[in-house]
Amino acid sequence: MLDFVIFAATFLTALLIATIYFYPGSRRVTRIPGPEPTTKEDGNLSDIARAGSLHQYLMMLHKQYGDITAFWMGQELVVSICSPELFKQHASVFDRPPSLFELFKPLLGEKSPQYANKADGRKRRKCYDSVLAHDYLHHYYPAIQEISDNLVKKWSTIAKDEHIPLAQYMNGFSLKVVLVSLFGNKAWSDEQILEFIHQHDIVWGEMERRLTDFPEEGSSRIKAFEEAKNRMLELFKKIIKNPKKLKDADEYLFIDALLDSTTDKDQIFSDVITYVIGGYHTTGNLLTWAVYFLATYQDIQDKVYKEIRKVLGKEDVNPKSAKDLVYLNQVIDETLRCAIVAPWAARYQDIDSELGGHKIPKNTPVIHALGVSLQNGKYYPVPNKFDPDRFSPENKKSRPTLAFQPFGFAGKRMCPAYKFAYAEAIIGLATLLRKFKIRMVEGQVVTPVYGYVTHPKDEIWVEIEKR
Ligand code: HEM
Repeated sequence: MLDFVIFAATFLTALLIATIYFYPGSRRVTRIPGPEPTTKEDGNLSDIARAGSLHQYLMMLHKQYGDITAFWMGQELVVSICSPELFKQHASVFDRPPSLFELFKPLLGEKSPQYANKADGRKRRKCYDSVLAHDYLHHYYPAIQEISDNLVKKWSTIAKDEHIPLAQYMNGFSLKVVLVSLFGNKAWSDEQILEFIHQHDIVWGEMERRLTDFPEEGSSRIKAFEEAKNRMLELFKKIIKNPKKLKDADEYLFIDALLDSTTDKDQIFSDVITYVIGGYHTTGNLLTWAVYFLATYQDIQDKVYKEIRKVLGKEDVNPKSAKDLVYLNQVIDETLRCAIVAPWAARYQDIDSELGGHKIPKNTPVIHALGVSLQNGKYYPVPNKFDPDRFSPENKKSRPTLAFQPFGFAGKRMCPAYKFAYAEAIIGLATLLRKFKIRMVEGQVVTPVYGYVTHPKDEIWVEIEKR
C-alpha cells in the first residue's frame, strides 16, 4: 500500500512539473498581467484574428489589463506598453525584435534596415538621416511642389460631379514624391505608378494576413503573392540598375548617401525597397485620411483654406510658411492621431531588464502600442472625435510629449523621415485645398483596416469644385 502511495505521489508531482514546463502560459517568467494562450501552438494568434488586427487586440488587452500587458504570438511571449510613463522607460532602447517583422522579409530582404540592429543599424541610420534631416529638407520642396501642381492640373480636368478615387490618387502622389525626392527618378509613367500600387496592395495584404493565417503550400494565395512580388521587384530593379543616371548630377539624394556608404548589392536593394515602401504607403494613407476628414468636416476645411490664403497669399509653401500654417499642422497631427496611421512599433534587449516594475526576460519583444496611446481618453477626451484644436499650442502643452508619438520614439530610431512626411503632407494639402473645395460622395461607409499601416477597407470617393 505504502509503495502505491509513494508511486502515486511521485507520478502526480512529475505530471505537475511536466504541465508547468510544457504549457506555455505557465512558462510565464514575469507577472505581467495578460491572457493565457488559447492554444499551445499558436498562443493568442486566433484571438488576434478574432479582434480584427493586432492593434484592435492591443486596444482590448490594455483596456482589460492596464498600461502593461503580455500575450503569446505563437510560442513567443510578447509584452505591450501604452503609457507615456512606460514609454519613457524604453526611450533609449534601439534594437528592433526581428521576429515581429519576419513576415515582411520575403519582400524587404534579409538586409533591410528593419532588421539592422546594434552598430550596423546605428551606422546606417546615421548615414541616411543626414539627407532627411530638418536642414536638408528644403532640397525637396521644389520637387514636391511640382508633383502637387501636376496633381492640381490633373484634377482641374475632372468634372464637378465626377467621383474621384481618393486613396489611389494620394498613394500615387506619395509614391511619385518618394521616387523623385529620394532617387531623383522622374521616369515612371502614371501606368507604372498604378501598377506598382496594385502589386504592392496584393503583396502587403498577403504579408499582413500571414500574421494569423498562413497559406497552404502551393495555394492560389502563394501563387498570387509570388507573381505580384516578382513584378514589384522587376520595377525596383529599374531604380537600382543605373541609379545615378536617373537623377541630375548635382543633386545629392538618399540614393547617393546609400551608394556612398556600401557596395553590398543585397543591402542596396533592401534599403531601396524599404525606403520606397516605408515612405509611400504611410504618407499616402496619411493624405488619404486627412482629405477624408477635411471632406467630411467642411467647417474645418474652410478654416484651413482661410489660413492657407492668409499665410501663403500667392506664394508656394516654403520651410518657413510650412511652420506658419499652424492650423494645417494641427489637422495633420489630429489625422495621425485619429486614423492611427502606424499603430505600433517594437523593441527588444538581449539582457534581462525591468519595465513598470516587472522583470522582462532578455530577447522578449516589447510592443510600443502607439495607436492605443493615441486613443487614451485621459489625454484625448472623446477620442474618436476629430478635433484639430486638441493640437493648439496651449492644448499641446497640457499633455506629456510621449502621449503623441505617431512616428515612434525610442532609441533615436523613430521614423527617419517624419519631417519629410510633414513637408510632403503640408505642400500636397495646401496646393490642393487652395484650388479645390473637396466633398465626400454621399452614402459611403468608410472602414479602417489596421495593419502595419492603417488604410481604408474600400476606396474613398470624393467630389471637387474649383475655388
Ligand atoms: C505618415 C507618415 C509616416 C508614419 C506615420 C511613419 C511611422 C513610422 C514608425 C512608427 C516607424 C517605427 C519607428 C520605431 O521603430 O520606433 C517608422 C520607421 C521607418 N520609417 Fe516611417 N513613417 C512615415 C513616413 C515615412 C517616410 C516618408 C519614409 C521614407 C521616406 C519612412 C521610412 C521609414 C523607415 C526606413 C523606417 C525604419 C527605420 C529604422 O529601422 O531605423 N517613413 N515609421
